[in-house]
Amino acid sequence: MKLRSVKGMNDILPEEARRFHRLETIFRQTVEAYGFAELRTPLVEELALFQKSTGETSEVVQKQMFLLARERESLALRPEGTPSAARVYIGESQHAKEPITKWYYLGPMFRAEQPQRGRYRQFHQAGCELYGDGGPIADAEMISMLVLLAERLGLSGVRMSINTLGGAEARAHYRDELRRFFEPKKEQLSAHAQERLGDNPLRILDSKDPRDQAAAEGAPVLLDSLSADDRAHWQGLLAALDALGVPYVIDPRLVRGLDYYTRTCFELTASSGEIGSQNAILGGGRYDDLLAGLGGQKTPAIGFAMGLERVLLALPEEAAPLPPLVFLAPMGAEPTTRCLVLAEALRRAGHKVELDGRAGSLKSMLRRANTMGARLCLVLGDTELAEGRIQCKDLARREQTDLLLSEVPTRLPELLALPPISPGPSEDPAE
Ligand code: HAM
Repeated sequence: MKLRSVKGMNDILPEEARRFHRLETIFRQTVEAYGFAELRTPLVEELALFQKSTGETSEVVQKQMFLLARERESLALRPEGTPSAARVYIGESQHAKEPITKWYYLGPMFRAEQPQRGRYRQFHQAGCELYGDGGPIADAEMISMLVLLAERLGLSGVRMSINTLGGAEARAHYRDELRRFFEPKKEQLSAHAQERLGDNPLRILDSKDPRDQAAAEGAPVLLDSLSADDRAHWQGLLAALDALGVPYVIDPRLVRGLDYYTRTCFELTASSGEIGSQNAILGGGRYDDLLAGLGGQKTPAIGFAMGLERVLLALPEEAAPLPPLVFLAPMGAEPTTRCLVLAEALRRAGHKVELDGRAGSLKSMLRRANTMGARLCLVLGDTELAEGRIQCKDLARREQTDLLLSEVPTRLPELLALPPISPGPSEDPAE
């Protein structure tokens, strides 16, 4: 039997994990500055939670759930983070604790999709949810935060598309209008769109199928069905974004694939790197009816989630920088014990240290230090130990100095700060 990971679920090896860490750090720093605090929820929830929130008409619930059937339980791996956060908000009676709650989360999500570049069965999201503020300023601040986040991550060719889906009434009215519009053209639509005509005709608008796109030419726009309140919210959002100078594009065909959205929705795409056709880096919007629909107090809410794999695809393939490594190469039993103690002291002082305790040859230890990209290699033999000193090889400068053993902790910062000198093309740094 050949051991391999499940289709669409990828191992993340240490070098790639470092690229994830970089994104996660930038994400945390950015959203924490806007007052979001971290929430961690289980990967598994009752299936019913997703049916009631992500929605029975969404593709995610209809086709992409990973189900875990137990005797009397019907559980599922989470396909997104919004339902779990809403469950916690309601369960904790969060509305009674503070008027506005801002949470963020990071972690794996699961959707049984047909895997392709940028589309996986296990992928990672970083998202935020804000509860208790129904006004357009909250929407504008979130969108502005996302534009800043994209900039800090180093994404280029970025486009923030926004749209409004109106309130429940406007949408019901709009659905009827769309049905009337598409019904005479039903035969021209893809099979998938014909199905959607019954349960959610809005989804026909964001179909990638050229037949559906052609049929959608001249379709009515939702902006014309908005109530006065919906319209005021939309105008308020545009005015706030303009005041902030945030660049955006209004896309009347942006409808989003999950059932809970109301009013503002948005999606950020990037066109750089290896991103390809799955170019939505993040998406989100307002969901003012979801909490009441799940049995909670009526609470307005807005949120988004960003796909970390997609961000990495859109960024150049460069490894995140590592802290410099100090390699300890003792020769003999006593030097090994001395290096063991030294390594602990240096790590406590914040250095990254590798101790080679295999009692190997100096050559093999130096080779390993080079392979690991060590900056300094400290060599300690019986003679050096007797004299209270240690050899310090700077592998990036090809220099060697003798240090007093006692002064190693104080001299290291200065040695590590020296600029490296790149080796000539024919030189073997291991020799
Ligand atoms: P979503 O649009 O389904 O929204 O997903 C958000 C992001 O997750 C996408 O823009 C994409 O970057 C990434 N993503 C989704 N599916 C995959 C996949 N199969 N493989 C790789 N990346 C993927 C949500 O999940 C909502 N919960 C967002 C939200 C939060 N709305 C309100 N609050």
